[in-house]
Amino acid sequence: MIRVTVCGACGRMGEEVVRAIISSNEFRLAGAVEAPGNPRIGSKIGPVAVNSFLEEVLGDCDIIADFTSPAASMENIALCAARGVPAVIGTTGISEQQMESIENFSGSIPILISPNMSKGINLLLEKIGGIVSGLPGFDIEIVEKHHRRKKDAPSGTALRIAGRISRAGKKLHPVFGRSGAREKNEIGVHAVRGGDIVGEHTVILAGEGETIEITHRAISRKAFAAGTLSAIKYLVGRTPGLYSMEDLLRE
Ligand SMILES: NC(=O)c1ccc[n+]([C@@H]2O[C@H](COP(=O)([O-])OP(=O)(O)OC[C@H]3O[C@@H](n4cnc5c(N)ncnc54)[C@H](OP(=O)(O)O)[C@@H]3O)[C@@H](O)[C@H]2O)c1
Repeated sequence: MIRVTVCGACGRMGEEVVRAIISSNEFRLAGAVEAPGNPRIGSKIGPVAVNSFLEEVLGDCDIIADFTSPAASMENIALCAARGVPAVIGTTGISEQQMESIENFSGSIPILISPNMSKGINLLLEKIGGIVSGLPGFDIEIVEKHHRRKKDAPSGTALRIAGRISRAGKKLHPVFGRSGAREKNEIGVHAVRGGDIVGEHTVILAGEGETIEITHRAISRKAFAAGTLSAIKYLVGRTPGLYSMEDLLRE
């Protein structure tokens, strides 16, 4: 059994990952970590009590799964690197500078980081470059929708889709939430926030007389939790390095 500590265990995503771990016979919940001051510190989740100190539970786990905030994730990764514990990071809103530090930490532990753990989005990321290459002259826009409490905008997934499209040879620059006329080499990225929308991403490819829209819709966080468990299985026992969900899907 793989012993997993979940950081952000009482958050929306953390709770879903904890549920998936507890209902599986391949994983065991070894720790549940929350922000200091969280009202659920000390209460029981499955076999463990919610704790605010990751260092206290790191000795008893094989890997951590982190769905917290960028600042908390950075502290957690530093602790994992010091103790040789692999880390799956689902937190979004990580800055370029923080990403550089994560790359440095991946010299001592395996780290898998993905702003979207669902299989569907990662397949879309793999294929989108090929699709846009086949449609020269089409305008490309990305629309993402999330619940009203999401802290970052646009989503890490929308940014990653835009990055894949640019890498596919299109010299496009992103325009976030356009105001005014569209210019030729833009890729518009639009963030909608409201209600309890789990997560939707649509890539719109608009040509003369035809459009294609590719939509991924997460109906529940179960899709992200299932991907997180696959990522955990994939990462345990790997050599240090930086891994992605696309690496996992390729295997
Ligand atoms: N990769 C994916 O597939 C995926 C899918 C969905 C969401 N996400 C991302 O995952 C992150 C969490 O999302 P969410 O919707 O679950 O948010 P959330 O409900 O706000 O959960 C975050 C949890 O982390 C806790 N936390 C904050 N600082 C902490 C620390 N230092 N140590 C331990 N726990 C800490 C928060 O506690 P307090 O409330 O007490 O501050 C909260 O319980 C976001 O970045 C989100 O964009 C990723």
